[in-house]
Amino acid sequence: MPHLVRLRDCHNFHDFRELARRRLPGPIFNYIDGAADDEVTYRRNTASFERCDLVPNVLRGVESVDLSVTVMGQKLAVPFYCSPTALQRLFHHRGERAVAAAASQHGTLFGVSSLGTVSLEELRKAYATPQVYQFYFHRDRGLNRAMLQRAKEAGVEVLMLTVDSSTGGNRERDLRTGFSIPFRLTLGGMLEFARKPMWGLNYVTHERFRLPQLEEHIDMGGDAMSIGRYFTEMLDPSMTWNDVAEMVRGWNGHFCLKGVMSVEDAKRAADIGCTGVVLSNHGGRQLDGSRAAFDQLAEVVDAVGDRLDVMMDGGVQRGTHVLKALSLGAKAVGVGRFYLFPLAAAGQPGVERALGLLRTEIERSMKLMGCASVGQLSRDNLRFR
Ligand SMILES: Cc1cc2nc3c(=O)[nH]c(=O)nc-3n(C[C@H](O)[C@H](O)[C@H](O)COP(=O)(O)O)c2cc1C
Repeated sequence: MPHLVRLRDCHNFHDFRELARRRLPGPIFNYIDGAADDEVTYRRNTASFERCDLVPNVLRGVESVDLSVTVMGQKLAVPFYCSPTALQRLFHHRGERAVAAAASQHGTLFGVSSLGTVSLEELRKAYATPQVYQFYFHRDRGLNRAMLQRAKEAGVEVLMLTVDSSTGGNRERDLRTGFSIPFRLTLGGMLEFARKPMWGLNYVTHERFRLPQLEEHIDMGGDAMSIGRYFTEMLDPSMTWNDVAEMVRGWNGHFCLKGVMSVEDAKRAADIGCTGVVLSNHGGRQLDGSRAAFDQLAEVVDAVGDRLDVMMDGGVQRGTHVLKALSLGAKAVGVGRFYLFPLAAAGQPGVERALGLLRTEIERSMKLMGCASVGQLSRDNLRFR
């Protein structure tokens, strides 16, 4: 696509990705675009949807289509949401503000990462859209309690504990460029930044880069704490179901685990009082060779779908992908890179356009499937190859 330069020429995931690639310094683009090891799981996430065929019904009266869903106690106008992702102000200077505004425009839920670059309090106040706070489990139990307390006081509706990151994934693209926070660029990485001066200009002329969810609790100043060290030194790989059960009780509200994949774990999540699970392999960024969430969906829904809300994310690039996941029983579907590339390409208008395209695609596909509401989607309309 050599001539693609404008937002209005972006019609799908690949167009936005290409525009983001042109705008971002290579190390940042590769941080978003990359995944672990050989990136097998990353590729499989999208490929898994292609093993599944849609079998439409016709003549069902589909003049208007209701796309709304209720998940984790939140009513959403569309059956997809923005999964929590780190460091958004590196991708565009408005970062989380742009994504939260676009999510709110579309009446959907927005995930704030604990590695977010805008504070959850500011986001909660500024945008009237349901908000999930994504959290990691720290060795320091007092710190965990303080962070949860802060989220409660901020008015966060749903807590999402990410459980697939007991250690960092092996992201070789980042090793090659030296991408880390703070930056430790290789010479090649530095040259890549020099080739995108507009990004640098935006970066230095806007407010200082911060990690407000963490810096109140942890000294993130200067070289005191890198994100790599945060993962290895601050997070607790010894965490167990008992620890999480205590946290669920302490939160006393909607609580979901992100990164569950097995039926056994989904059952345990229900047993300890979680109200949701997100089947996810972290966009292929953690355990390479891990199964795609879409491929695990049916068995998890069958096992626990009556006890908690089952969601999924990973590899979603089309409305029909969302539609297939909903047909298998997902209550809502998360997108990550699907909004990050538009954010990098064009800020808020980019994210709004991308979410709008996804909405339109789902609406169109539902009409073509003969379904007037999400509740009418079912496995009867799917066949696997
Ligand atoms: C650049 C980037 C940063 C991410 N940061 C986080 C994070 O801070 N916490 C988290 O739980 N998941 C994080 N994720 C994973 C996403 O929440 C989500 O699971 C994943 O992006 C879904 O796959 P997709 O990008 O193919 O849609 C990140 C993903 C990307 C691409």
